[in-house]
Amino acid sequence: MSVLVINGPNLNTLGTREPGIYGHTTLPQIESSLVKQGREAGVEVQTFQSNHEGAIVDRIQEAQSAGVQYIVINAGAFTHTSVAIRDALVGSAIPFIELHISNVHAREEFRHHSYLSDVAVAVIAGLGADGYRYALDYAISHVNPPKSDAPYPHVVFDLNQRQGE
Ligand code: DQA
Repeated sequence: MSVLVINGPNLNTLGTREPGIYGHTTLPQIESSLVKQGREAGVEVQTFQSNHEGAIVDRIQEAQSAGVQYIVINAGAFTHTSVAIRDALVGSAIPFIELHISNVHAREEFRHHSYLSDVAVAVIAGLGADGYRYALDYAISHVNPPKSDAPYPHVVFDLNQRQGE
């Protein structure tokens, strides 16, 4: 089971970039805590950041062939401009959560439109770096559904196997 977390342009400068808007947490700090959160839930978290639109499109296409089950994407400024990233996400058929650190709706008008929102499962905006944790929590619970209502599904599975022997 794997979830891919994509960050777009300028998000590599988190920590020093407009800290009044984006906070002081760096991207490596965010990514390593997401990898840890995934590991604790038995889900592989892959991370990817690029300042280049085409590289993000390539990574989404790759994710589809690699069987990634969920994407969390902060496309940065490409959110407001990129039909190509929208098409790649739709074409991959991988469910995704659109994420923004800042509340884009409380900012300049050009940030109010997103090419991704209407095809996203959900949009998180304005919760700061914590938004990534909430998005991943949701993604994990949707790639890793409990196999049964039983408290120890693996034990039930073993018993069933024995009965069939
Ligand atoms: C952002 C909001 C975008 O408008 C902006 O271009 C970014 C970051 C956010 O996380 O709040 O680069 O996606």
